[in-house]
Amino acid sequence: MIRRNQRSHNPEDTRPNPRHIAIIMDGNGRWAKRRHLPRVAGHKAGVNALRDIVEHALARGIGILTVYAFSSENWRRPEEEVRFLMDLFITALQEQVQDLHENGVAVGFIGDRLAFSKKLQKAIADAETLTQANKAMRLMVAANYGGRWDIATACRTLAAAVAAGKLEVTDLDETRIGRTLSLGELPEPDLFIRTGGEQRISNYLLWQIAYTELYFTDVLWPDFSAPDLDLAIDWYKERQRRFGRTPEQLADIDSA
Ligand code: IPE
Ligand code: IPE
Ligand code: MG
Repeated sequence: MIRRNQRSHNPEDTRPNPRHIAIIMDGNGRWAKRRHLPRVAGHKAGVNALRDIVEHALARGIGILTVYAFSSENWRRPEEEVRFLMDLFITALQEQVQDLHENGVAVGFIGDRLAFSKKLQKAIADAETLTQANKAMRLMVAANYGGRWDIATACRTLAAAVAAGKLEVTDLDETRIGRTLSLGELPEPDLFIRTGGEQRISNYLLWQIAYTELYFTDVLWPDFSAPDLDLAIDWYKERQRRFGRTPEQLADIDSA
């Protein structure tokens, strides 16, 4: 992954950046409601917020950004809103992929894309193909994604491999399962951000966030801007990630 700005925008700050940030972009509907606008206006504003956040994450040297665009449960929304979101994904891809490409961003999608229209599936595949070799940052978009779907899909893949005699039951350990999930070999998120005030996971990356630092903010997604991302990253840098160890053990490791 990228080396540029790997640490921080402030040269005196040597604490490591999160390598991977996962975001639940929530609050578009409420943002619109406060402005007496239809909910979909909030989604449109949300796309602009995402563009700015991608740009800022790139400048901050964040290697991977995974954003929740549409959950497997969001199909339950009114048909008109779902339709608008699908059209918005296509337009946003058409309008922004070239720019992402020029900035060295590799775009990938996780989730069950077969439920999307052929047109959207093609826009997704085209974006992935165009940008696949890019190295500056990886932007993963979770669309028709659910954490349980992800785990269930991996189980089916692994069970099929066992049934075909390609794997032994004893091969199915945490590493193998993790690698079979949709983020594959990518490092797990270091920092999770949910905007919009709710403190829940909403079936996002269930397996992958086992040790992620969780940051919740009341800022509604369309209002979430570069300084808000900086605040979250600064908060992350204050965390002591113990992974089960004691603070004293970590101090020993640090001084070794
Ligand atoms: C998140 O914003 C966007 C999607 C789920 C697509 P919401 O639409 O959930 O906004 P609120 O939570 O109703 O404010
Ligand atoms: C989660 O937001 C999904 C996305 C942001 C795409 P929701 O607004 O759909 O979550 P719940 O249903 O309120 O938990
Ligand atoms: Mg919401």
